[in-house]
Amino acid sequence: MNTQDYMYKVAASGRVNIIGEHIDYCGGKVMPAALSLKNTVYIRPNGTNKINLSWTTLPDTVSLDIENLENYRHLKYGNYQAGSALLWRQAGHKLVGCDMLQDCKVPFGSGLSSSAAIEVSTIAALATVAGEQFDNAEVALVAQKAEREYAGVNCGIMDQYASACGKKGMSMLLDCKTLECEYLPMELGGYSMVLTDCCKPHSLADGKYNERRSETEEALKILQKSLNITCLADLTPVQFAQCSHMLPKVLKMRAEHVVNECARVKTAEQALRAGNIELLGRLINQSHASLKNLYQTTGFEPDVLAEAAQNYPACIGSRLTGGGFGGCTISLVKTECVDEFTDYLLKVYERRTGYHAKCYSADIDDGITIEKL
Ligand code: GLA
Repeated sequence: MNTQDYMYKVAASGRVNIIGEHIDYCGGKVMPAALSLKNTVYIRPNGTNKINLSWTTLPDTVSLDIENLENYRHLKYGNYQAGSALLWRQAGHKLVGCDMLQDCKVPFGSGLSSSAAIEVSTIAALATVAGEQFDNAEVALVAQKAEREYAGVNCGIMDQYASACGKKGMSMLLDCKTLECEYLPMELGGYSMVLTDCCKPHSLADGKYNERRSETEEALKILQKSLNITCLADLTPVQFAQCSHMLPKVLKMRAEHVVNECARVKTAEQALRAGNIELLGRLINQSHASLKNLYQTTGFEPDVLAEAAQNYPACIGSRLTGGGFGGCTISLVKTECVDEFTDYLLKVYERRTGYHAKCYSADIDDGITIEKL
């Protein structure tokens, strides 16, 4: 990889969601953190009207015509970059022809938001090479639009916001209705965060994610006939108890998850502020159970992985993180036991599912970073 010939190195993070799952598009608070697993873009201007893409991990090269960015949705590689460039331009920003080398260290399909990292770093790189100062939150919003309008996943704002605006060592408490974000030191006492990929391929675009989102919208519409709420996250436990009979069974399950998960985020914030990591761990376990039983976004392999971790004495909490149906669990484990924990987990998981899981080591890191080369 010859990176010396480029002008800038621009990176954006994958993310882990600590708690608050399937809450962003319901207008509630979520608690993600940006990871040191990143997509890095090496970029230089090329004086043409083309964005030329290459990858450190692929033999492919793709040339995108700046005037025809609508036409690349079908690409297997390069569609996220095309969508990001197009939406950035449509938001009123200038694009200049450039060469981009993409180096993605966020594992694909891991539930750690490789797509957000690609979108956010691509936009930040395009803005940088065009000589523009930009606002990270705006980059996040445009990247989310690219995911929705170009890649077809009707996602919330959490992933792109964490990818752009994360801070080293900090978890984020992001209010997805107002985009106010507080940063809380991610001090885990004697515990460490372990990320384990169940290595069962998943894709949010397969429709299940969009289906969950429509279900919550449907539930909101029904409840609004009796309640003055603007989003499902506004629903209080008391209101839910009074009105849940209005909802058909499945929608009631979805809404119950949302109500309880919002309450867990609140308690998780208090737990983190008070250094009560055991409580945070219990909330993480409850979140997984709710995703399994009420929101139904886990699946056999993720359940085996999370539940095997939960049964390990040195692990105080484990759950599937991200959109679901596969991907990674986050586990909180006594730091001195991390090695034996991962040995145990990988063995049990393989015995029960036949898949080899993978553990990733990652720190909590800054979102967008820019380096002049
Ligand atoms: C995916 C989406 C996010 C969020 C999570 C679930 O990662 O991109 O917007 O909805 O799923 O919490």
